[in-house]
Amino acid sequence: MKIVIGNDHAAVAMKKQVSEYLADQGHEVINIGIDQEERCNYPDYAKKAAEYINAGKADVGVLICGTGAGMAIAANKVKGIRAVVCSEPVTARLAREHNHANIITFGARVIGIEMAIAILDAYLNAEELGGRHAERVGLITQIEEKG
Ligand code: RB5
Repeated sequence: MKIVIGNDHAAVAMKKQVSEYLADQGHEVINIGIDQEERCNYPDYAKKAAEYINAGKADVGVLICGTGAGMAIAANKVKGIRAVVCSEPVTARLAREHNHANIITFGARVIGIEMAIAILDAYLNAEELGGRHAERVGLITQIEEKG
């Protein structure tokens, strides 16, 4: 799978660990985040990752900041993006199955690398469910398009 990964200064170390893990699992990892711990603005990276997904240059995205919250808020402003902040694997699995999340976010100041990997495994091993879940995602898209 092609995975775009982005981060701000709060998550440089975790981004590197997560990227290595995903590459070891055979994924193509596209790093659009910052690699030095100099202060930067997380919305810039959320926007860039969202654009990769909307352009078909990545299948899904992983965004890491201090809490995951800012990245999710910013990414969700981009049409077509469904970003969910996760701090445990159940939400990650259901975000994919029920909400068709195309980005997951988490916080390097909130969880450790083992939990981050559990979240990624749960998300990447899940599949989008159809039926009532797809209909509800369709309703989200309607809000996005019509307000
Ligand atoms: C940066 O200090 C911090 O605000 C950012 O990483 C993130 O937690 C925002 O949601």
